[in-house]
Amino acid sequence: MTAEHYFSTDPDAPMRRSEIEFSVAGRDYRLAVASGVFSAGRLDPGTAVLLRKAALPDASVQGDLLDLGCGYGPIACVLASEAPLATVHAIDVNSRARELTDENAATLKLAGRVRVTAPDDVPADVTFAQIWSNPPTHVGKTELHVLMDRWLPRLAPDGVAWLVINRHLGGDSLHTWLVDKGWLVERIASQKGFRVLRVTRVE
Ligand SMILES: C[S@@+](CC[C@H](N)C(=O)[O-])C[C@H]1O[C@@H](n2cnc3c(N)ncnc32)[C@H](O)[C@@H]1O
Repeated sequence: MTAEHYFSTDPDAPMRRSEIEFSVAGRDYRLAVASGVFSAGRLDPGTAVLLRKAALPDASVQGDLLDLGCGYGPIACVLASEAPLATVHAIDVNSRARELTDENAATLKLAGRVRVTAPDDVPADVTFAQIWSNPPTHVGKTELHVLMDRWLPRLAPDGVAWLVINRHLGGDSLHTWLVDKGWLVERIASQKGFRVLRVTRVE
């Protein structure tokens, strides 16, 4: 018997489904989750801190937003609900996560504005007004840096990225690395061991 991890690209364990409820900015969400995806038991505490402490897009925000590593889609669904004029690209390597995000966006009537794809399928010419991520840390520091190097340069010139990362899983070293790479990084909040980082281009 092998353990099935949420970070499998294509989970083949039988799917055990359930639902997660949470509230963000006065809106209630009820999302489908399933075994084989990240934090299927509850809204991840890091994601909860991010959605509480970062500046959610307001209703006037337009253009393309990115949820990098969407899981079952809690961040993508919140962004699309808060910013009805924006398109949210929700990407994940895990096919079951993508299916759930698709399903959750459809349930919330957001399907037209949440584009769920594998990372390689995001159109190359899209730049992002905002990037949001509770990034994978199990992949190791090198892969995490590869991921940041791949997606952060796709921020629009005045774009902003919001990241949450556990201090014990490399939050502070990621902060330092991003600064060394030339990004302007502000630690906006630190709660329950989670660092919320706001990343922009240096003017
Ligand atoms: C920490 S989880 C966050 C999931 C979700 N955003 C949430 O808040 O519950 C990170 C996610 O990144 C995904 N992931 C891992 N490697 C990735 C990659 N190279 N590109 C995109 N997503 C990736 C994992 O499958 C996982 O769903």
